[in-house]
Amino acid sequence: MRIKGILLAGGHGTRLWPMTKLVSKQMLNVYDKPMIFYPLSTLMLAGVKDICIVTQDENIKLYERFLGTGAALGLNLTYQSQNEPTGLPDAINLTKDFIGKSSVILALGDNIFYGRDFEEQLKSGVESLNNNTASILIHKVRDPSKFGVAKIVNNKVVELIEKPKKFVSNYAITGLYFLPNDCVDYSSKLKPSERGELEITDLLDCYLNNDRLIDIKTGRGTYWTDCGTVSSLNDASNFVKAIQDSQGLVICAPEELAIYKSFI
Ligand code: DAU
Repeated sequence: MRIKGILLAGGHGTRLWPMTKLVSKQMLNVYDKPMIFYPLSTLMLAGVKDICIVTQDENIKLYERFLGTGAALGLNLTYQSQNEPTGLPDAINLTKDFIGKSSVILALGDNIFYGRDFEEQLKSGVESLNNNTASILIHKVRDPSKFGVAKIVNNKVVELIEKPKKFVSNYAITGLYFLPNDCVDYSSKLKPSERGELEITDLLDCYLNNDRLIDIKTGRGTYWTDCGTVSSLNDASNFVKAIQDSQGLVICAPEELAIYKSFI
């Protein structure tokens, strides 16, 4: 079964102003490389070659100049405009022609994953798609109020809540979603929330309510962060620097992954 990737690089990045008034958030550097390299590497590690980058018109030109068709990495990159942040599932609406009959891995452009078990977790996600089931990666965090959160009862996800005001659980829903092809139908029927966006939790609910949502716990050995704030961006840079300095290797480098995955 074919899987296509959608990489979300839109949004206003308001929590990173003034930097994001000047450039797209996903062009900012996380230590020694642009942020977009990290979710691109995640999709490549999952084995995905056909990737659509969703961003504002003005940024498409810049990303195109930078990454081109992706041929140098053995990828097939396309670009889709989303000028306003109308929500994560709306990116699925915008890319439905690109998706066609494929399953989807939707990757948020500001999410970074690294760890020994991460490749296995990606394999589990791909396996769920082979079984026509969606999956999410959930990660234990100290402050879950900034994220979508999974309420868990008897080791099973029973509810998904976007940025809960009251404590629900420590399990944040990370920005990597494995979605069967019918995400296209589900997304087309979603209604905007009070904040005017199509919400990813509403899309995931469609699977949860039909017993078609698997949660993959990242566990202790995986680092995850989003880079949505000055503080988390700085933490991510420090993490990448620490790993690279101590091990003498470059992590999340698309060129290296292209060879590792035999894309080139
Ligand atoms: O990072 C994980 C969290 O990401 C999840 O736990 C939440 O459930 C999910 O809603 C999301 O929350 P954020 O508040 O961090 O989302 P943000 O608006 O920052 O958007 C995440 C990325 O997606 C960011 O790189 C911008 C991009 N984006 C966002 C929207 C709403 C788009 O490209 N288009 C959009 O319409």
